[in-house]
Amino acid sequence: MTMNESKKLNIFSGIQPSGELTIGGYIGAIKNWVTLQHEYQCLFMLADLHTLTVLQDPEMLRKRCYDFLALYIACGIDPAKNILFAQSHVPEHTQLSWILNCYAHMGELNRMTQFKDKSKQHAANINVGLFGYPVLMAADVLLYQTHYVPVGEDQKQHLELIRDLALRFNHRYGDVFTIPEPYIPKQGARIMSLQDPTQKMSKSDANLHNFITLLDEPDTIRHKLKRATTDSGHEIRFNLTEKPGISNLLVLFSAVTDKTILALETSYQHANGYGQFKQDVSEAIIAFLSPIQSRYQALRKDETELQRILHQGALAAREKASATLKKVYTLVGLMEST
Ligand code: TYM
Repeated sequence: MTMNESKKLNIFSGIQPSGELTIGGYIGAIKNWVTLQHEYQCLFMLADLHTLTVLQDPEMLRKRCYDFLALYIACGIDPAKNILFAQSHVPEHTQLSWILNCYAHMGELNRMTQFKDKSKQHAANINVGLFGYPVLMAADVLLYQTHYVPVGEDQKQHLELIRDLALRFNHRYGDVFTIPEPYIPKQGARIMSLQDPTQKMSKSDANLHNFITLLDEPDTIRHKLKRATTDSGHEIRFNLTEKPGISNLLVLFSAVTDKTILALETSYQHANGYGQFKQDVSEAIIAFLSPIQSRYQALRKDETELQRILHQGALAAREKASATLKKVYTLVGLMEST
């Protein structure tokens, strides 16, 4: 590590390699990763252990880890600049998670809205992992003395819990953990479902028409946009309560073109109806995704290279993680192994 790198503040984030990576996940998280990688020491993780809280097809899960890694890179994350790794390759995550479990309270985990939502969604499999999910997230973040965690709005509550846990631990044992802050985009923190714009766009949605994936074909995107829910009016203007569907499309349009919502509203002020607007949003998304998709196809072919990146990433991550875990083991009173 150069002198300059050691002075940089730390960024940590991750995505569960389940379902398909959506444009919501891109806008809420990865878009910021791409910008922040130049100024911070960044670790970007495949949260493969977290996916096990829902039953996974083993072969599919393994394949998706490579798919997601190739997508991170195709979106512009430089593997030479950042530490890219799989959670399961760094055992310190589960080790610290156990310790933190002993400091997390049932009541605070019970309040997590994601746990409540997922318990409804997977009523036949409300497992202990699902309940303790945010504690493993806390271990992810706290192992690396993280300053900022770039995520979408839905992870804010988890981040608050992580901060509480870190403060509780520090209060008892001294300054062990850096207290992390969420880094949430001002616009696009919560991309909504296309057919039900009152719900978050989610990669685990059973209705494929609700989300756009980063690998959707142009015709699929056109089709999904055509069917997107709007309203009975005809004006293209941002108003979350009166026009949630159009507002969501404006946010998408703005994110993929880097034009402001105001500029987009102005250019459609004489529009009479939504047909042309929806078509333009589709074409802008297609144009934005096209180079990402070409890079992805090339990267995904070379699994040996992807394995090499994960191997290097795990070595670098372990070096950092083990230093924090060692401190924690000593502080809580565990013996040194001889
Ligand atoms: P996950 O895999 O559900 O989502 C990955 C990231 O994408 C963001 N996101 C969205 N942002 C805006 N609009 C949407 N519709 C949308 N859908 C998803 C999420 O906020 C997230 O930033 N628990 C995490 C993974 C994780 C993690 C971590 C994140 C594990 N350990 C440590 C940060 C730090 C998750 O399930 O994200």
